[in-house]
Amino acid sequence: MASELAFHLAPNNLSTRTPPIGQALSWAKQYVPAPDRPLLDISQGVPGTPPPPVLRDALAAAASAPGVFGYGPDEGEYELRKAVAEEMRWTYGGQDKGSGEVDVNAEDISITSGCNLAFVAVAMSLAQQGDEFILPVPWYFNNQMTLSLLGIKTVELQTYAHDHFLPDPERCAALITPRTRAIVLVTPNNPTGATYPPSLIASFASLARTHKIALIIDETYRDFIASSPPHYLFHSPSSRQIAPEHQPTDWSWRPTVISLYSFSKSYCIPGHRLGAITASPALLPALVRVFDCLQICAPRGAQRAFLTKPSPSAKSLLPSLRHFIKDNRDALAARHKLFRELLPRRWKIASSGAYYAFVRHPWKGRGAREVCERLARERGVVCLPVAFFVAEQGGEGETEVREEDRYVRFSVANVDDERIRTVCERLKEAEEVFGWELD
Ligand SMILES: Cc1ncc(COP(=O)(O)O)c(C=O)c1O
Repeated sequence: MASELAFHLAPNNLSTRTPPIGQALSWAKQYVPAPDRPLLDISQGVPGTPPPPVLRDALAAAASAPGVFGYGPDEGEYELRKAVAEEMRWTYGGQDKGSGEVDVNAEDISITSGCNLAFVAVAMSLAQQGDEFILPVPWYFNNQMTLSLLGIKTVELQTYAHDHFLPDPERCAALITPRTRAIVLVTPNNPTGATYPPSLIASFASLARTHKIALIIDETYRDFIASSPPHYLFHSPSSRQIAPEHQPTDWSWRPTVISLYSFSKSYCIPGHRLGAITASPALLPALVRVFDCLQICAPRGAQRAFLTKPSPSAKSLLPSLRHFIKDNRDALAARHKLFRELLPRRWKIASSGAYYAFVRHPWKGRGAREVCERLARERGVVCLPVAFFVAEQGGEGETEVREEDRYVRFSVANVDDERIRTVCERLKEAEEVFGWELD
């Protein structure tokens, strides 16, 4: 279709993929739901429950509190930066084991309008057109889209089902060039759900340090790891908890590590747009240049809500929400278990964790895209094919289906236990009615 626009669009924009969730939802529009057969959307990584009442009340009150109508500091309210640093010391310190050995302070934290913006800000601070970032494949599609928009080359670090989708540091080392600016890890991973062990994260930290490049770790799902801490990179090297494989020797995290966080999943508030970056204060001036153009400040009402004091001695709301996070984590772990138990036997879970299960569908010679399309249109189950998390293929005429094309991402966080049961029943029905050859 010829464009009606009289002006040009940026080539980097035009060559960036269309957001894939919309495509899955367009398949779903063709499903005709019935009262006893509703649409089951298990596609997008959105929290299935609302935030707790105490947070909802705090958000409501903070939205019209004096002082929130104006701009705030680019890098976030200082009191919230302090509170987030305290939460990090607690989370990475092993929660019940004390937090004194985790070396993260308010000055290391900046508050962003969500984790996606955090990634954009970091990418714009580190690289320019023609530079390279290494991303494990399959990737979180917004990371790759950001790089594409900025003209930064995505270098693919393939991961494999037989390795549980864990990236290999040796293979990564072979991809580093003089243009490499960062390695990006997402753990627990979107889309595979794989949780990278602390020793693997330490190997990547060591590799990044050796090559004087950044290690960016997107830890949006860190609060859903049952065995804490997520890694030991933030621990002081003298910490008693450090096993030699958990941290590079003579380690100091600030020259190398940039950690990203989202409030969307842990606190169930994706619409309020809050995230955080943990990085050396030496990076802050570069980040602030970007923040000042993209966000000026993160939403002030939401920031202020987390500074509500539930008791006179409390400094913020965050510690009082730890039990809410834990309850959600436990519920999600139970839902994963249920999904494993109910999934028809021909569907094979390759990896799972946090919000996601990454599952191999049972039809021979069929790509997950056509499977997901039919599941949405005919059975009312919306899930995402691996094709959404890898480079776009050549299009027309490409007929050969590889084993790697057979994976489907299910976001088990979106739905309750009853719906998990119904999703599994419909997958079984699909085996019976699709008429395709099964494994
Ligand atoms: C890995 C990852 N990073 C970032 C985000 C986006 O987070 P936010 O809502 O804070 O922008 C998501 C959302 O699904 C995600 O899966």
